[in-house]
Amino acid sequence: MKYAKIVATGSYLPTKILTNKDLEEMVDTSDEWIIDRTGIRERHIVAENETTSDMAYHAALSALNQANMQPDEIDLIIVATSTPDSVFPSTACILQNKLGIKTNGSIDLQAACTGFIYALTTADCFIKSGMAKNILVVGSDSMSRIVDYSDRGTCILFGDGAGAVILQASDEPGVLGNEIHADGNYNSILTCDGHLYNGEIKGNPFVYMDGQAVFKLAVRSLTAVSKNLAESIGVDLAQINWIVPHQANIRILESTAKMLGCSMDKVITTVDKHGNTSAASVPLALDVAVRDGRIKAGDLVLLQGVGAGFSWGASLIRF
Ligand code: ACO
Repeated sequence: MKYAKIVATGSYLPTKILTNKDLEEMVDTSDEWIIDRTGIRERHIVAENETTSDMAYHAALSALNQANMQPDEIDLIIVATSTPDSVFPSTACILQNKLGIKTNGSIDLQAACTGFIYALTTADCFIKSGMAKNILVVGSDSMSRIVDYSDRGTCILFGDGAGAVILQASDEPGVLGNEIHADGNYNSILTCDGHLYNGEIKGNPFVYMDGQAVFKLAVRSLTAVSKNLAESIGVDLAQINWIVPHQANIRILESTAKMLGCSMDKVITTVDKHGNTSAASVPLALDVAVRDGRIKAGDLVLLQGVGAGFSWGASLIRF
């Protein structure tokens, strides 16, 4: 078994929708400003009693259903999240229990909005080493829990959701390569540094962002990693059928596509309807495009992630 192949995708979005009009009632902003600067029209928000693992569970079931697999065929679970249900146990262990299965391992992975690319890269290594055959890789985030709804600079951007894929050992080409990066020198431009300390929350429990610094670094790093990865695998960017980027902001997606010389017709965008769902955004967008028939068997697909850390990465996949 030489490859790891994505054999199914799934996703879940909470029922409640927060529109730009709703945000106009909460902060000094306008539908027009938000659409113009971010491309976002609405986002989904978790219910009061709904958790990151609940969303992960629904996304996992939807992927298992598409694969026609039973939960107990999964031998490893990796959940990418920055908004776990608890410090411990991990959201992956809570998800394992909800699925009613035993696996060889269940781990959370935190790389903010790049989390899904890091998780997929990790899962690919587990499969290539022979340590696992069927891995459930999930990105799930309840960003609404860590967003300050009185800060107009950040609250307009984020939404909640989950996306999942099943990565399986295969003789057919699947994941052709991954590249991940991090540069802690930029760790202060995007933070949520609140943490539990002696029974209290120390630090800021809400997202802080230097929007313009994030914007510039995101475009630069996504362009570089996409070019490098394609070149190292020997693929011309023109051969790529679809790009599925982290859905941060439509202007980041457009600028990166332009730098790569790719038409926006090849870029899967869900940011208008989902906002930025952090680690969930790439698998959510992937699932949308697989289910509506745009991404087909045989297509060459580039996944891109970027986020706090600063971290970034990409995966090139033959579907
Ligand atoms: N509504 C109305 N006005 C606003 C809002 C808002 N929601 N937010 C900020 N403004 C105002 C500011 O107060 C400022 O007003 P001033 O000139 O009177 O001081 C003005 O708009 C311009 O503010 P900037 O912060 O310079 O606005 P900018 O054009 O940079 O847009 C934005 C802000 C949309 C956040 C932009 O910087 C951006 O897209 N950055 C990328 C960040 C991103 O996408 N983060 C996602 C999370 S990170 C990730 O996923 C990688």
